[in-house]
Amino acid sequence: MADSQDHPLKLRNLGFFARLGVAGFVIAAIGGAAVSGLYLFWHHDNRDERAGLTIDDVTAHYHGIVSEARLLAALEEGHPEDLADGEREKLIGWLRGDSATMSQTYDSLDLGADAPAEIIAVSCLDCHSRTSEGPDAAPEIALEYWDDVEALSVSRDVQPVPLQILAASTHTHALGMASIGIAIGLLALLTSWPRALVGLVLAATGIGLAADLSGWWITRSVPEFAYVVVAGGAAFSGGMSLLGVMVLLDLCLPKRKRKRSE
Ligand code: HEC
Repeated sequence: MADSQDHPLKLRNLGFFARLGVAGFVIAAIGGAAVSGLYLFWHHDNRDERAGLTIDDVTAHYHGIVSEARLLAALEEGHPEDLADGEREKLIGWLRGDSATMSQTYDSLDLGADAPAEIIAVSCLDCHSRTSEGPDAAPEIALEYWDDVEALSVSRDVQPVPLQILAASTHTHALGMASIGIAIGLLALLTSWPRALVGLVLAATGIGLAADLSGWWITRSVPEFAYVVVAGGAAFSGGMSLLGVMVLLDLCLPKRKRKRSE
């Protein structure tokens, strides 16, 4: 074990209070990372205007997402074939209108038979009820309730984070996360864990951070890089936690007896 490359300072040879202090820092760093993960979840899960944290939230944040509502796209493509032109225009007009009043207009009594809910009931529900049957039916795309319709009605035009904010965020994250990464990495190098193992985790952590942060910028032009952002972020936070746990475990090891050589 006494590798000639090993640093003479080993965590396990520190005194009790020094170990306690190092453990405190490491716990704070890992805890902080966990909280910022939670913050990320709360802050970004609706970024793509859809509930739940998906890759689209990351794409929306760094690249922006513009997509047409499925209902609108279907109607504009001429589905269903036998819908009267007047009805089609009314539905399209409603879908293109103000999204804030969409739900009220949907089954507005003032509109009578022209209300979208009425048109859909008459022209669509034969095929789009949960109980629809037959070769032409699509019960999996139900349009019976407002919730069904709403999910297919929202067009998205999400703008990416402004450049100045991205730059400021890169600045703080690059400095803060790289410093904490270097500190935890150095501590891990002072443990008794196998060098190769520490090196491997360290590589994944460091490369992960570099990929994550550069991914923010590349995703702005190339939306597919959102996956690199996620993979890099996962490698960084997973690697940091692992290094932290390795350091904490090492701090619990008993002091190694000094060799009375020479
Ligand atoms: C004759 C049956 C029939 C009628 C009537 C009908 N649909 Fe459909 N619709 C289908 C079928 C079948 C599909 C599935 C097509 C597919 O999977 O490609 C579909 C698919 C859709 C989709 C999903 C398109 C996508 O993005 O994949 C929407 C939205 C839709 N219909 C809306 C409507 C609306 C609104 C009406 C009424 C104005 C309507 N449909 C009337 C049979 C029908």
